[in-house]
Amino acid sequence: MADAYETLAADYDWLFDDDALADGGAINQPAAARLLQRISRTSAVLDAACGTGIDAAVLARRGFTVWAADGSDAMAEGAAARFRRERLAIPLLRRRWPDLPAATGERFDVVLCTGNALVHATGRAAMVQALTGLRRMARPGGHVVVDPVTGRSFMPSARSSRLPAGW
Ligand SMILES: C[S@@+](CC[C@H](N)C(=O)[O-])C[C@H]1O[C@@H](n2cnc3c(N)ncnc32)[C@H](O)[C@@H]1O
Repeated sequence: MADAYETLAADYDWLFDDDALADGGAINQPAAARLLQRISRTSAVLDAACGTGIDAAVLARRGFTVWAADGSDAMAEGAAARFRRERLAIPLLRRRWPDLPAATGERFDVVLCTGNALVHATGRAAMVQALTGLRRMARPGGHVVVDPVTGRSFMPSARSSRLPAGW
């Protein structure tokens, strides 16, 4: 994962058209979009695979309290540059999913792992560790959205699931 995104980061935004850069990409796919429409605009949202920060920036402009995280230094640096450019005070964690819970005590109403990012947790053990880390970042009764759809992907489905109370 790390190597590919260290190389891709500089050109990543070229994958998006102007509408996506302005209005968001993966957050407008059905699972995330429906959830984000029905929660309060004061909700706390963690974009846990923020890439270069396109969606996190859009969500912050919509009024959500947004944090961003990414496991690639280069992608996170792209996000940091975007947030500086757009004068958005979005806390940014340079962490992989299993390491997020120890990185901060902050917990969120919505944790996003969108844009087919989870595909990078390869193998059962890595997938369990990733999902456990993401789930631990959600507040009790919060949501984790794991979405394989990128808008450029052929993958047809997406899932949004409510966590049981006590998680
Ligand atoms: C396909 S990009 C999606 C980025 C963004 N959500 C989007 O829709 O444009 C996948 C992102 O996941 C990040 N990533 C991959 N594996 C990760 C891991 N184990 N922990 C945290 N981030 C990871 C990559 O660095 C990359 O920024």
